[in-house]
Amino acid sequence: MIKKPRMVQISEIVQESKDVKTFTFNIKSILSNYSIQYQDPTPGEFLMVWVPGIDEIPMSLSGFNNNKDWSITVKEVGECTEMLFNLEKSDLVGIRGPFGNGFQIPEFNFNNQLNIVVGGGIGMAPLIPLISELIKLKIKIIVIEGVKSKEEIIFKKYLKNYLIENETFYISTDDGSYGYKGFATDLFNSIIEKEIEKGNKINQVYSCGPEQMMYELFHICEKFNISFQGSLERMMRCGFGMCGLCVLDPSGIRVCREGPILDSKILRTCTDFGKYNRDFSGKKNTI
Ligand SMILES: Cc1cc2nc3c(=O)[nH]c(=O)nc-3n(C[C@H](O)[C@H](O)[C@H](O)COP(=O)(O)OP(=O)(O)OC[C@H]3O[C@@H](n4cnc5c(N)ncnc54)[C@H](O)[C@@H]3O)c2cc1C
Ligand code: FES
Repeated sequence: MIKKPRMVQISEIVQESKDVKTFTFNIKSILSNYSIQYQDPTPGEFLMVWVPGIDEIPMSLSGFNNNKDWSITVKEVGECTEMLFNLEKSDLVGIRGPFGNGFQIPEFNFNNQLNIVVGGGIGMAPLIPLISELIKLKIKIIVIEGVKSKEEIIFKKYLKNYLIENETFYISTDDGSYGYKGFATDLFNSIIEKEIEKGNKINQVYSCGPEQMMYELFHICEKFNISFQGSLERMMRCGFGMCGLCVLDPSGIRVCREGPILDSKILRTCTDFGKYNRDFSGKKNTI
């Protein structure tokens, strides 16, 4: 793990949509300069990304490979992401991590068992390495990407290459400009009903995206007795469990440390899930 912010040079930038870009950097120089022992990240883990003079913010790893190229996929929403967005190839950013727990892939996946991956908007980012891993393990998956409008679709080329032949990649748009018209949650519900009718068992549902979407998915899963794992977002400062900013009531679960991936068992106990988050002062706000 990279414990302190270390500078790394951006090697590649891909424009995914109007306000989303993927940045790739190679971490070999950090490992050798600071004698850090390397461990492969787990899909779902995140980095703290430092833009000097601006801020340090959490960003999920959207890719990593054997050559130690790591990627983050950034949506421009405010000051720090705008600065990141304006960086060019060879510019430097600071990174530390990876932090968090990552998605759990069940040991046993039988032939007639399906896994469903549901991403909302930029929430697709941490799901990409998860999807790669599930494909590598030959686990049967359905992927649903939900966005407001077709201009916001990301990773389509990547997902189409891997998944479309098996008809397992669905896109929903709120305005109906591409694919299913409506919310990803409605599409998810109808897919689940059809698969159950066909006699297929849903083994696991993985998700990342707006919390209201994940809250609804979780409740659909509860209704059908399906295990759920969601990647939660909370305000983060330290990223490794020290400052307490990201805790969930009433259990005191720290999203940066025990999460960001929380499963059904934990989510059932979190009264904050889908309802409250905290601002930088620690004050609770309604989501
Ligand atoms: C575990 C985790 C993984 C994330 N992964 C991604 C990702 O892969 N891609 C991506 O585009 N975004 C991701 N985010 C969200 C990203 O961190 C925020 O969009 C970013 O911090 C906004 O910073 P800003 O200065 O541009 O915007 P600001 O105007 O400062 O904030 C805009 C909004 O971003 C959120 N935010 C701001 N600062 C923080 C912070 N320190 N911690 C958490 N949320 C914050 C708040 O909701 C805030 O209202 C992730 C967040 C978390 C917690
Ligand atoms: S961000 Fe500090 S404890 Fe989670």
